[in-house]
This record gives sequence, structure tokens and C-alpha cells, in this order.
Amino acid sequence: MGDTFIVEGGRALQGSVRVSGAKNAALPLLAATLLSEGRCVLRNVPDLVDVRTLLDILREVGLAADWRGNGVVSCRVESQASSVARYELVSKMRASIYLLGPLVARRGFAKVSLPGGCVIGLRPVDLHLKGLRALGAEISLDHGYIVAKAPGGRLRGAHVFLGGPMGSSVGATANTLMAACLADGKTVIEGAACEPEIDDLAHFLNRMGATIEGIGTPRLVITGVPSLGSASASVMPDRIEAGTFMVGAALTGGDVRIEDVRLDHMAAVVDKLREAGAEVTEEEEGICRVRRTGALRPVHMTTLPYPAYPTDLQAQLVAMLCLAPGISVVTEKIYPDRFHHLAELNRMGADIQKEGCSAIVRGVERLSGTDVEATDLRAAAALVLAGLAAEGRTRVHAIHYLDRGYERMEQKLVALGAAVAREAAQRPAARAA
Ligand code: UD1
Repeated sequence: MGDTFIVEGGRALQGSVRVSGAKNAALPLLAATLLSEGRCVLRNVPDLVDVRTLLDILREVGLAADWRGNGVVSCRVESQASSVARYELVSKMRASIYLLGPLVARRGFAKVSLPGGCVIGLRPVDLHLKGLRALGAEISLDHGYIVAKAPGGRLRGAHVFLGGPMGSSVGATANTLMAACLADGKTVIEGAACEPEIDDLAHFLNRMGATIEGIGTPRLVITGVPSLGSASASVMPDRIEAGTFMVGAALTGGDVRIEDVRLDHMAAVVDKLREAGAEVTEEEEGICRVRRTGALRPVHMTTLPYPAYPTDLQAQLVAMLCLAPGISVVTEKIYPDRFHHLAELNRMGADIQKEGCSAIVRGVERLSGTDVEATDLRAAAALVLAGLAAEGRTRVHAIHYLDRGYERMEQKLVALGAAVAREAAQRPAARAA
């Protein structure tokens, strides 16, 4: 079941917090090291359950990875004997699909368990397969596994459009991009995702010796090379973690200085926070300050691909809008089912109705602490934020979701003056010898 956070509400967040490296950048960077024939060193890697799970999966396919603490991971492929990512590990984390592109491109073969759905929706992989098929991979589905083969051991460059029903796909863009680096000839990816995490990946691949042009645009042009070598990179700061603290500052009427933040990645978030009554200022490069002294105001927001407001900060914004007098409308266009936090927030006294893929939030005067259950990573963050602003004690259960994507969250919140304590899950009693 995981640990529980016990949050005593009513304290405004005050002080400084440093943002960790981005989970969603670290995962593809780690997978990309499978493409390299040399040693790769990644810095600013967050110590998260998802990162550790991916390292376990990468070790099974031959990556020797040394986790040195202080966020440094040094790794090198030492064996290419197994190219299979087992269900038991893949089922823990969808991002294991990132092995598919690198393995089939470098080794000509990959077998990766289908990740399946999750609580935030169906999350198909058709665009990942479309990208790799365009590069010549022969793909079949075999007893729940995706099996990909490159005829003659090598993929070939191609022109591929990756736009999907919800816009571009971050994961499919990353997979196709990684694979195209070792394909024969030129690849053009149209409709590529423009999320900053894709830029981070593309720059890292170029440092390994790849030739990627158009970085930051929806048209990536890759000229394949025969091999890739050593490279190092520092993982970009986590814009979702930064946004979570920004929302926390605004929600609690606090005053928080956030270090290691790329505000240029967060225009839509800053815009909505200002509209809702927060003051957001860039103190110097990489440091911003968020505070709120006046009343919260309702806003209308729609999640869409970057540079629009990110789906991974939707739940946190909803938590804040629960206390904004008036009516807010939050529309989820990336994962229309990503609304499991609404019922839990309502149990805390919020007034939210779901209409189609929108949440209609009527601001209430107060939230009251109670027992709530997290259902996914960002819902967990939203419930913790709601607990910070609620009256009395909130117990947020299933905190293992939060641990997948937030590094030392409770320590960071405590340093900002919050009263948050972790209660360890009851472990089965040790058997007598
Ligand atoms: C990544 C992030 C996740 C974030 C999401 C959207 C990582 C590890 N995860 O997930 O935190 O919430 O981007 O910003 O980086 N789709 C298809 N077919 C596909 C793939 C996706 O239809 O083959 C759809 C999805 O159902 C969704 C939309 O495209 O509606 C965007 O998904 P995608 O960008 O692929 O999300 P992920 O890469 O899985």
C-alpha cells in the first residue's frame, strides 16, 4: 500500500527550495545510453523510484550502471546478450517502452513487454510502433510482448508524421528519435513533440555523435551515423516539480524562492498562476520567487502539448482552484480520464463536478483535513498540496505514487515550514527464526 503523509494544514510555505533533475528527462537519457559504445555520465539525476526501476531494467539488458550518489550515474553497455525487458519490471513503469527504439536500432532486436493501461487512461503505444515501423522495423505482438526486428540488423531513415489524436507524443518522439540516430540515411520526424525533455535528449544524442537538426521544433531531421560514443549531460531541472512548489506557494498564500528553475519552460504555468492572483518574479537566472498576498482568483485552463499548460500540473492547479472564489473550468485534453483526484478533493470539502473532460470547480471557503487516497503520481501531489491549505490533519495514503516522481518531497516541504510527516506502511512482521 505504501507510506502515508500526515499533513497538518494551515501553514503558508515560506523560504527556499531547490528543484531536482527532471524525471521525464532522466528516463529517456538513461535509455539513450544503450545506443553508446562508450561510457556515458549523467549528472543531476534525481533519486526516484522510477529512476531506480529503469536502471534495474537497463541492467537486465546489459548496461553496467554505477549510481554514485550526488545524482551521478556512470554507465556503459557491457553485454548485448539479452534484449528482453520482462513484464515483471515493465509493468512497474511505462517508461520502459523507451528501451524499444535504442535496442532495435543498435542490436537489431528488441522484445519489450507491452506496458498496458494505467489509472490515468488507456495510454496506447501505436505511435511508438508507427515511428519504428517507418524506420523499417518489423514489429509483431507476441504473448503480450512487442517484438521488433531490424532486417539485416539495421534500420533505415524515413519520413514519418507522429502527430496523434491528442497532438504529439513525447514518448513516441523520443523512441523514434533515438532509433533514427543509428539508422541508415536521413529521417524526418514531422509532428514531433516539442517538450523541453525532448530537447535535452536530442542534445545528449548529439554529444554522443548523432546529427539532429531542428531541436525544439516539431520537425526533427536526423542524419544517421554508424555508431555513437561517450558523452555526458546534466539533466534539466524538473519543471513539474518546480510548478508543484509554485502552486503550493500560491495556494497557501506563501512566499517561496525556487532555485534551479527554467522559467522559460514554464510560460503557461506562470501565466495561470498570475491570473489566479500569485506574483511570480524571476530574481535572477534560474531563481524565481512566488508569493501571494491577495485573494485567489478563478481561472480557466486547458492542458495541451508544450508550450501550453502541462497535464502533469493539472491536478495541482485543481487543488488550488478549490479555494478560489468563483467558478474555474479545467479541461484535460491529453488524458481525458485523469481526474481521480476530484472525488478525493470533494471529500475534503471541495465542490468539483466533472463534465466530459472538464472539471468545474466552484471555490469553497475552506477545505478540511481527512483521509484521502492517491491514485497516481500527480494526484498524490495535488492531495498533499490540498492538505497544506486544509484545516486540521490530512492523511494522504498511497504515497508510493509520489515517491515515483518527487525527490525528498516531505523534507523539502518541511524546510519550507510545512508540517508533513511520513508514516511508514506496516510491513509484514518478520517471522520468528
Ligand atoms: C509523457 C510523460 C508524462 C506526461 C505525458 C504528456 C514521461 C516518462 N512521461 O508521457 O509524465 O504526462 O508525456 O505530457 O516523459 N498517445 C497515443 N499513442 C501513442 C502514444 C501516446 O495516442 O503511441 C496519446 C496518449 O494517449 C496521450 C497523448 O498521446 O493522449 C500524449 O501522450 P505521450 O506524450 O506519449 O505521453 P508519454 O510519453 O507516455
